Amino acid sequence: MSFSTEALARIAIELQSDIGHPDRFSRLITTLRNLLGCDASALLRYEAHQFIPLAIDGLSQDVLGRRFALQGHPRFEAIARAGDIVRFPADSVLPDPYDGLIPGQESLKVHACVGLPLFAGQTLIGALTLDGMDAHQFDTYSDEALRLIAALVSGALNNALLIARLERQNVLLEEPGGDTTTGIQEIIGLSASVMQLKKEIEIVAASELNVLIGGETGTGKELVAKAIHQQSPRASHPLVYLNCAALPESVAESELFGHVKGAFTGAISHRSGKFEIADNGTLFLDEIGELPLSLQAKLLRVLQYGDIQRVGDDRSLHVNVRILAATNRDLREEVLAGRFRADLFHRLSVFPLVVPPLRERGDDVILLAGYFCEQCRARMGLGSVILSAGVRSALTAYGWPGNVRELEHAIHRGVVLARAASGSDEVVLNPQHFTFDGVATPSVQMNAPPAGRVNLREETDAFQRQVIHQTLEKQNNNWAATARALSLDVANLHRLAKRLGLKD
Ligand SMILES: Nc1ncnc2c1ncn2[C@@H]1O[C@H](COP(=O)(O)OP(=O)(O)OP(=O)(O)O)[C@@H](O)[C@H]1O
Ligand SMILES: [Mg+2]
Repeated sequence: MSFSTEALARIAIELQSDIGHPDRFSRLITTLRNLLGCDASALLRYEAHQFIPLAIDGLSQDVLGRRFALQGHPRFEAIARAGDIVRFPADSVLPDPYDGLIPGQESLKVHACVGLPLFAGQTLIGALTLDGMDAHQFDTYSDEALRLIAALVSGALNNALLIARLERQNVLLEEPGGDTTTGIQEIIGLSASVMQLKKEIEIVAASELNVLIGGETGTGKELVAKAIHQQSPRASHPLVYLNCAALPESVAESELFGHVKGAFTGAISHRSGKFEIADNGTLFLDEIGELPLSLQAKLLRVLQYGDIQRVGDDRSLHVNVRILAATNRDLREEVLAGRFRADLFHRLSVFPLVVPPLRERGDDVILLAGYFCEQCRARMGLGSVILSAGVRSALTAYGWPGNVRELEHAIHRGVVLARAASGSDEVVLNPQHFTFDGVATPSVQMNAPPAGRVNLREETDAFQRQVIHQTLEKQNNNWAATARALSLDVANLHRLAKRLGLKD
C-alpha cells in the first residue's frame, strides 16, 4: 500500500507551516500516528554517536530524557548503519530500546518495528521509529511509501536544526559536520524555568561579562559554568576550576597567583597560579562565598586592573581572564553581614544567573530520571533500566532538597539495589528501591547494630554521610561552618565529602 497524494501533501504542508512552532515535532509525530496508525513512535536527532529523542508518542515520558548511545542499542545501531529503512523481524532477538517504556506493555516480545534513518545529503541527522503491537501492522506499507515519509521528515528536521543553530547565532563557531557536543555534558530539561536558563546561558556566553551563578546545592551550577565556557568565544582556551572552600588560607594566594622560587619556605620552584593558567580562557571560582576577606581584596584588584603578582615577585603580569563564580549562599546577605565585600559582589554579579531548584522544574524530574537510568544502564552494562509507574509518581511528589545531585544518586543507588535483589540485567526500579532522604542506605539504623552480615566500611561511610549531611543542613550548606562544627579541616571535609559521594 502507498499513501494517497492527499495524505502526503497534508504532511508536507503541515511540516512546512509548523516549522517555527516550538511544538513542531510533537505535531509531526501526532500527524504520523494518525497516518500510519502506530502504537508508539519517536523522532530522534542523531549527534555524537547517540540518538536524542525530540518528540515521542505512546512512550513513557522519561524517554525524552534518555540518550541512546549506538553502543549498547543494537537496533539503533542497525538504523544508523543501514542507509535505508529497516524492518526488524517481529521475532527479532535484538533487544528493543523501548522495552518496558511503552505504557501498558510490560514487555515487547513480538511486535512490529520499523526504523527510518533521516539524512541531510549523506549525513545522518536523525531517525524516526515506528512500533506497533500487531506483528504485521506495517506490512502493508511499501518501502517506497516509507522512504517518501522519511524524505519529508528529513527535510523538516534538517530545516529545524538549521534554524535552531541560526537562532543560537554561533553557526560560524561550529565546525561543519563535527560532533560539536562531544565531551560536553548536556543540560537536560524542557521546563519553562530551564528553557529560560538555557536562553540566558546562550546570551551571556557570547559576552565577556563575569557571571555569578546562584542556586541551591546540587542544582547544576557547575554544569552551567561549563556550558557558558563551551558556548563562549573562549571555548578553545582552558576552563580552570578552583574551589574556594577547599582552599586553606595559607596557600590560597599562591594557588590563585602563583609564586616564584624561594618566595617562602617550601617554594622550591616557580609555580603558575590559576589566573595564569586560565589566561585567555575562563576561571571558575566555585563556592566563592567561602573566599576569605583578605583574598577577596586581592581578587578585586585583579578584576579591576587585570594584573596579578606572583607571591615573592615585584613585577606584575597582565592576564586576560573571564570569571565565572558560583555559590549556594545568598551573597547579598553575606555582604550585609560583612562577610563578603560589596565592591567584589558588584563586580562579580554583573550578570547573575539563578539555577532553579529541581522541585520547580515540573516533569523535568522524570526526564532527568530517564537520563540517569540510561547512564546507569550503559555504565553497568545492563540490558534495560525502567522506572515503574509507582516510582515515577514518587519521584514527582518528592521535594528533592539535594536537587539534581540527590536524584542522580537516588537513581544510581536504586539501580544497584534493584540489580542485587533481582540478579537480572533487566532492572525495574520500584518504590522500595528508594529511601528519599538522600542519606542513609536502607540497611542503616542509627544507634542499633544492623542485623545479619555487616560491611563495617559501608556502615561507617553511611554514618559519616548522615552526620555530614545533617550538619550541613544545620549550617545552611556552609561547608566552612560545617567543617568547624565537625572539628575538621575544611579541605579534609571536602575530600571526605567527595569520597562519600556527597559532592562532586
Ligand atoms: N540539567 C541537568 N542535566 C543533567 N545533569 C545535571 C543537570 N543538572 C545537574 N546535573 C548533574 O547533577 C550533578 C550536580 O550538579 P552540579 O555539580 O553542577 O551542582 P552544583 O549546583 O554545582 O552543586 P553544589 O552547590 O553542591 O556544588 C552533576 O553530576 C551534574 O552533572
Ligand atoms: Mg558545585
